[in-house]
Amino acid sequence: MTQDELKQAVARAAIAHVEGDIIGVGTGSTANFFIDELATIKHRIKGTVASSEATAARLAGHGIPVLDLNDVAEIAVYIDGADEITERGAMIKGGGAALTREKIVASVSKKFVCIADGSKLVDVMGKFPLPVEVLPMARNAVARRLAALGGEPRLRLKPGTREAFVTDNGGNILDVAGLAIADPLALEGTINQIVGVIAVGLFAARGADVCLLGTPEGVRTLTF
Ligand code: A5P
Repeated sequence: MTQDELKQAVARAAIAHVEGDIIGVGTGSTANFFIDELATIKHRIKGTVASSEATAARLAGHGIPVLDLNDVAEIAVYIDGADEITERGAMIKGGGAALTREKIVASVSKKFVCIADGSKLVDVMGKFPLPVEVLPMARNAVARRLAALGGEPRLRLKPGTREAFVTDNGGNILDVAGLAIADPLALEGTINQIVGVIAVGLFAARGADVCLLGTPEGVRTLTF
């Protein structure tokens, strides 16, 4: 099976986890497959809250209502991918640059269902460079602090240019290589304390509740 087929399989399996009127929807290639599946049952839900402009556009393209989070009291379930996930449900996210809004939507959702192909399951996170969204004026100051923690921060660039990538929130992204993340919760807290950080792509304080993992043998369900 290809990686895309594994992503499609978990996206399909996630439909069984859709509950409540309003669904939080993540960002990335796996989330995109989920959006396409969600379109087939759109009559069952009132609407969605999107974690990025790209996701909002794809949802709207399917005729699925996208609501402002400020108008929503409760989200029953948030469904999103991950760049790495541990057996305890902690994740690195933000490869698609949507980490801040993903974190916000996840934080107000009763249940977080992570959908990922099997390659994302790791013992220790950090092989995937950890994305940190920063205010542009603070990017060098934050980079020095991240280097002092043992990481190798690199400013994410717009593809094919030497200009800084700009997120949906007007932030920049530092991708931090070289971290072996033994204690995700502690590192999340430490990075959150750095002035100038908008959000760190470590999801440990609010990790996944369930992970649907795509493997050649079928979809494995991990609960945390
Ligand atoms: C988006 O910012 C990310 O958090 C994605 O959820 C993550 O990068 C997984 O993306 P894929 O589903 O494309 O692998």
